Amino acid sequence: MKNVINLDELQLEDFAKGDKFASRCARIGPLVGARDLGYSYDIVPPGKRACPFHSHRSQEEMFFIVSGSGTLRYGNETRKIRAGDIICCPVGGPDTAHQIVNDSDADLAFLSISTMTDPEICEYPDSLSAESLGKIDREIAKYPPERKQSAVISALAIAQDEKGWISPEVMEFVAQYLGLPPVAVEEVASFYTMFHTEPVGKYTLTLCTCLPCGFQGALHAADHLRAKLGIDFSETTPDGRFTLKEGECMGACAMAPVLLVNNKKMRDFMSNDKLDRLLEELK
Ligand code: FES
Repeated sequence: MKNVINLDELQLEDFAKGDKFASRCARIGPLVGARDLGYSYDIVPPGKRACPFHSHRSQEEMFFIVSGSGTLRYGNETRKIRAGDIICCPVGGPDTAHQIVNDSDADLAFLSISTMTDPEICEYPDSLSAESLGKIDREIAKYPPERKQSAVISALAIAQDEKGWISPEVMEFVAQYLGLPPVAVEEVASFYTMFHTEPVGKYTLTLCTCLPCGFQGALHAADHLRAKLGIDFSETTPDGRFTLKEGECMGACAMAPVLLVNNKKMRDFMSNDKLDRLLEELK
């Protein structure tokens, strides 16, 4: 019978890309005469993944973990996976994006089955849009080719405008794009208060609490905002509307208290009345 094959009969091919992606894999469908489904078998070595975090607009996929263990990224969640697990990845957007990561010390083997629906559109939520990449390219062009890493702050700002915050995956993407080690991008993203390294609400309110502003009412403004929103600095309201952040000097000390809305608009002389009006306005 030509429609049966055993895993030990497969001729595995080596695949590797960069320092993150590697597997030994075989496309099984053609070997067993599959017509409407795609079958593949992958063995992912420790520390690697077989493919980027992605979602499909028309092909549904199923994975069966044959041996080993690892982590599944699915939408905004992660969970540990092990031999015997069956994973369904229906079509969708970022909410059904998925990736199997071998973060164990041994090989992780899985069988995947796909509906092979055509035409297919694949999306990669960790990547940036073509529009954002165009903006980053324009920033890079401002520097000599050998200094393109100097565009890191601009690139992070553009990435944050698109994604809302700078996740570890976005940092990694920016690092790769600029040819920097990921840790160098992480250092920049975590140093400047304008970058959000955690998810934030729809509106971020960044209040300057430096000494000159502190002497001119910023601390009272902070108390008022905390009481009105029911959150402390670095927290987000339960409805996901506001995140309160502490900022550094914004060069507007004479107009204290000052705050930035979404890092874009500065509001000055923020008395309690003005703060209340601002919160109303943003509701
Ligand atoms: S100290 Fe607050 S703007 Fe300068």
